[in-house]
Amino acid sequence: MKYRNVLTLFIFALLAFPASFAQKKVPNAPQVVTDPSLTPENIQKVLDEAYAKFKDVKEGKNADYIKELASVDPNIFGIAIVTTDGKVYTKGDLTSAVSIQSISKVFTLARVIEEQGPKVIMDKIGVDATGMRFNSIVAVELQKGKEINPLVNPGAIAASSLVRGADSAAKWKNILQTHCDFAGRPLALDMPVYISEAGDNLRNQAIAHLLKAYGRMYFDPVQATDIYTKQCAISVNAKDLAIMAATLANGGLNPITKKVVVSSETVKYTLPVMATSGLYDDAGQWLYATGLPAKSGVGGGIIAVVPGKFGIAVISPPLSPAGNSIKAIYTIRHIVEALGVNPYQITPIK
Ligand code: DON
Repeated sequence: MKYRNVLTLFIFALLAFPASFAQKKVPNAPQVVTDPSLTPENIQKVLDEAYAKFKDVKEGKNADYIKELASVDPNIFGIAIVTTDGKVYTKGDLTSAVSIQSISKVFTLARVIEEQGPKVIMDKIGVDATGMRFNSIVAVELQKGKEINPLVNPGAIAASSLVRGADSAAKWKNILQTHCDFAGRPLALDMPVYISEAGDNLRNQAIAHLLKAYGRMYFDPVQATDIYTKQCAISVNAKDLAIMAATLANGGLNPITKKVVVSSETVKYTLPVMATSGLYDDAGQWLYATGLPAKSGVGGGIIAVVPGKFGIAVISPPLSPAGNSIKAIYTIRHIVEALGVNPYQITPIK
């Protein structure tokens, strides 16, 4: 009797332990595969539906305070999803590129966290949303340069000034390489957009000087603004942006190239800033609707990150008054709902 018990225990251990051990080794990996709504067929079906539903939306208008952006084709409409296991789903215009604009703020922020740790952002920039427009000078003045947030212009220029590099060229090289690693391919500058913004950039220069006055600018303000302006002019298509978002969704490992771009620790501190201030003064409305970290740019792109599952990007240039692509908002909201990936959507255990 005793021996039979021991034998039963032994067989049980043999069966149970390898299984639990295997689960511990790859805690996040199986999600995409096991989630019933995230089958390849369903993801493509939902993308196709969203494209058909929103392709004729005519709301909003291109940014024109950067003159070159006013002449970008407002009908560009591209959607891409890249999963953490490296599958790519697309619909619409994947060849037209736009300037990344403020979406770049995410990747420069991640670079600074990677290089100097999360505390430097708390100490030298701040993480609370300003609740004001992305280029608000009042927001800087109210807090005397404190709490300027790395995802709006003042904090983003400060973040660019913090990136490692002995001089302006080295800092820029570092930032461009970071963006290329996130996208998994060499990216180039949209020169007309860069020249257009750099030639008409007094407001951002004023912000950088004001920060300098408050001891919150960490490199020459004119050069830091120029580096920031260059990063905003990096040219990307919807698939590039989705791969960049998917790299965040995958804890910093690019799911296409398999390169570790930043650590999962860095991603852990980057995503909450996106969640609270990625869509500027409309960040609350966005989070309320989707529950997801995201980031917009005045070039017309929006990325959103479903942690552990996928990155999604939409490009459509016409913007809302807050500076966010209207069609991209509608499209991503629809897809998030249809795929059931809002992380706050909880099925109660009875
Ligand atoms: O500094 C600027 O104003 C632009 N280069 C970027 C602003 C931006 O993309 C805000 N996005 N929604």
